[in-house]
Formats: sequence, structure tokens, C-alpha cells
Amino acid sequence: MRVVVLTGAGVSAESGLATFRDAGGLWEGHDPMVVATPESFAADPDLVQRFYDARRAELARVEPNAAHRALARLEDALGDDLLLVTQNVDDLHERAGSRRVVHMHGRLRVAWCTACDGRHDWTGTLLDLPPCPGCGAERLRPDVVWFGEIPYEMERIEDALWDCDLFVSIGTSGVVYPAAAFVQYALSRGVTTLELNLDVSDASTDFHVSRRGPASELVPAWVEGLMAATGAGPVSG
Ligand code: APR
Repeated sequence: MRVVVLTGAGVSAESGLATFRDAGGLWEGHDPMVVATPESFAADPDLVQRFYDARRAELARVEPNAAHRALARLEDALGDDLLLVTQNVDDLHERAGSRRVVHMHGRLRVAWCTACDGRHDWTGTLLDLPPCPGCGAERLRPDVVWFGEIPYEMERIEDALWDCDLFVSIGTSGVVYPAAAFVQYALSRGVTTLELNLDVSDASTDFHVSRRGPASELVPAWVEGLMAATGAGPVSG
């Protein structure tokens, strides 16, 4: 069975990272058009860098939860038959053991040099304009896909959705495109679709099945069920 999983901020909520649009979410305290567009970065780079520096620092204070760990177990069981796509810029999937994670919206712990196009693992700050480790230019920005920019690896994601048997969406509100269109794309291919989400999302009625509850409970139960149903166990070698 070939499976594509899409995760959103809800999968990291129980690790202590705020989502975007829930009560107390990031976009309640910040206008996304002021902190998450290339135009806002050009207009006030310090404001934008400060916003992402604070989120990067927060990453050091949180740990993966049971949902992240269950998805890492699923990768062990399904191998290349699983593609894990995340809208999240945190590294909690990798810290839980997932090795093949497609970060369609980029990664917070990577700095992108807009002078030499180099990308560098980064856990510190960017506000103080550190030089690029590659070319020395002071042109580092967070490697995050901002509103108005093109998400990463869309061809790889579409190819996987085209070929998969099951599409599962976890912890996302279904309001941001192109991710919000993945369920329609999968349905057009006759793929079975499942949503695991705390609340009703904008796309809930599009899914064959939509389950309510916290990811830390729904995801391990779904993974165990799928592995039992498919007889899939850890892939040896
Ligand atoms: N378990 C499962 N789902 C949860 C949990 C939880 N513990 N907590 C919240 N959720 C669900 C909410 O019900 C909501 O539907 O997660 C969803 C979070 O939605 P958003 O805050 O809109 O986050 P997301 O869908 O990931 O945002 C998409 O928007 O701001 C941009 O680029 C940013 O990647 C982000 C994109």
C-alpha cells in the first residue's frame, strides 16, 4: 500500500508549538502579511528576522510527541511506500526518527543565502546578520516559504499523490493552497482519503473518513491499525 501523509501545525501542537489559526495561534498575535511575505522582509527585515529567531529558539525547548513517533514507525514499516509531506517548518518529524520528510514550506533550522543560494543548518539567530558560511555575504534569511512564494518539491508531491492508494491529512485547517487542494487531487485519482484533526476543517467534508481528536491519540491508533491490517512490520535491512 502506497501512502501519502500530509501534516500541519496541529501535529506539533501537543509538543507545545502554537498553531496558526487556532485560539492563541501565531496569526492572532502577528499579521502574516507583516511577518511572512518577501515584501515585508524587504520593508522591515529586522521585524521578520526577530519573528523567526524567536520561533527557532522555541524549537530548542520542545520535543516530538506520540504522533511524530508513530509516523516514524510507519516509515520503518512501509519504507518507500510512504511519503511524509509536512507544511511545518519545525524539525520534530526528523527528531522523532522520520528520515524522508518533504518540507513543502521550508525549514526553520536552515538559513538560505540569497547571494550564493547556499543553504546552511542554523540553530542560532539571523537578526544580527551573520555572514554566509559559504560566500561571506550578509544575506541570510530563514529557509521558509512565505506567502506569495512557491512551495518546495511540488512535482515530487504530485507524483506521489498520483500513484498512491491512501491520502491522510493530519492537523491542518485546509485553508492554505496548494496543500488544501491535495485531497481533491487524490479524490480525482480514486484514492481513499482520511482526515485526522482536532476540529472540523475547511476540507473535512471532502474526505471519505474524518476522525476528531488529538493527533497524539488518533495517529498512533491509525498507524497500529494500518500496520495490523497490512501485516506491515519494520522493514529489515
Ligand atoms: N491534534 C490534531 N489536530 C489539531 C491539534 C491536535 N492536538 N491541535 C490543533 N489541531 C488542528 C486544528 O483543528 C486546525 O484545523 O490543526 C489545525 C491547525 O490549523 P492551522 O493553524 O491553520 O495550521 P496549518 O493548517 O498547518 O496552516 C497551514 O498556513 O500559515 C500558513 O505556512 C503556514 O504551514 C502553514 C499553513
